[in-house]
Amino acid sequence: MAVPAEAMMVTTRTRFFVVMIAVAVCGGFGWRSTMTEATAAETDVTDPNYDEEAVRSFTLPNILEGPDGVAADSVAAWEKTSRPYQFRQLQRFVYGEQLPAAPVQVVGEVQRKEVQLAGPGGGTTAAVRLQARLRLGTAANARETEVLVYLPAAAKEPVPTFLKLNFAGNQAETADPEVWMTDSWMRSGDGVEDHKATDATRGINARRFPAAEMLSRGYGMATAYCGDIFPDHPEGRAESVLPSLGRPVEGELAANEPGAITAWAWGLSRILDWLVTLPAVDGEGVIVVGHSRLGKTALWAGACDQRFAMVVSNESGCGGAALSRRNYGETVGVITSRFPHWFCPSFGSYAGRELELPVDQHTLLAMIAPRPLYVASAEGDRWADPRGEFLSAEAVGPVWKLYGREGLGRRDYPALGESVGDFVRYHVRGGKHDLLLEDWQHFADMADATLRAEKTSSR
Ligand code: GCU
Repeated sequence: MAVPAEAMMVTTRTRFFVVMIAVAVCGGFGWRSTMTEATAAETDVTDPNYDEEAVRSFTLPNILEGPDGVAADSVAAWEKTSRPYQFRQLQRFVYGEQLPAAPVQVVGEVQRKEVQLAGPGGGTTAAVRLQARLRLGTAANARETEVLVYLPAAAKEPVPTFLKLNFAGNQAETADPEVWMTDSWMRSGDGVEDHKATDATRGINARRFPAAEMLSRGYGMATAYCGDIFPDHPEGRAESVLPSLGRPVEGELAANEPGAITAWAWGLSRILDWLVTLPAVDGEGVIVVGHSRLGKTALWAGACDQRFAMVVSNESGCGGAALSRRNYGETVGVITSRFPHWFCPSFGSYAGRELELPVDQHTLLAMIAPRPLYVASAEGDRWADPRGEFLSAEAVGPVWKLYGREGLGRRDYPALGESVGDFVRYHVRGGKHDLLLEDWQHFADMADATLRAEKTSSR
């Protein structure tokens, strides 16, 4: 059963619009989601739209539906029929086929060292730092990645641990000068020369990986460079993990051939395979976090691998948490023309006809249920469509409800910096596209209230 949305006007770019309130009602569950909308503008599909009044009216596909159109009304029906079906639809239309697991091996020794991290308020935090080189699979052309882990030295029991891929190498995530520098291909940017990281990249993204602060809250922090798994450019496929998994790199790709996001998500699962072997890490408490394109990846990793205990999307936008049907900020046309290697070819064929997509990005969020899910936006990051991220988080409540859990609930758009929701949470931070300590504190608050609270109550 589809969710009916009312409020419709068709218009053109020069001639529009009335803003209307669309109330979507899902009768089966009595949930309603209120959206401020108007209608479609005729745009070039590769033009971003920043006009809320030009957002089209739409009907969201019902995430609870199975292949026969029947909406799941129990956990059993969701897990046996509707979830697998909706997951297949995401593979088919957005991310491509899931990749098979492969054994991960440590290359050489895991380096272990006790270090002091410059901490909050000018103090220091005692940490155990691990660095490992992992071979992702056994094929002759398997790729390798380096993983950096900080664990609180004072911990008396295994700690829940945040895992995130990074954009510019592990050495960019910390001021710690002993962190290994990646040799993998890198997109142009500060401190990058001839597509290789130089010493000038050390610590440049440290604000996005507040290890001392999270360790002082009792969490571990782990990270690896996404470019080790799939170099982030349209021809990156040949140097990615995909050939080692038997995937084609040349010729016309099948409509459901996986791209970089699926490869990165697969890499996260392989890193998880190793993390769960560490006695100091709580293997049932690994939280996958990602910013932007890597936020899209964190969501897909959480969908593909239910061992991730909690999933955090930070400003993941188009192809991540934001509803494609809104066509606000970055659109399917824009993203698939600029980054054709991220998704499966089928997704690009929906440029300009997002209303026909058999799924929307709330389908992706639904895959995380009943685990804790955090969706974070930034006010100044209109490109990622904060409101579209909020609306998709709001729309998935019925799935958590099946498990007797509250999701985001129905609510007005929150004030800046206010974290709202229960097993699905959301905040919009002031400021620009970035991943900041303020965001991390909200993520840790949610992990405290869900993962940690469950552990304590089950003792
Ligand atoms: C670009 C892209 C976004 C992506 C972002 C990022 O802006 O259009 O989809 O999220 O890069 O990863 O930083």
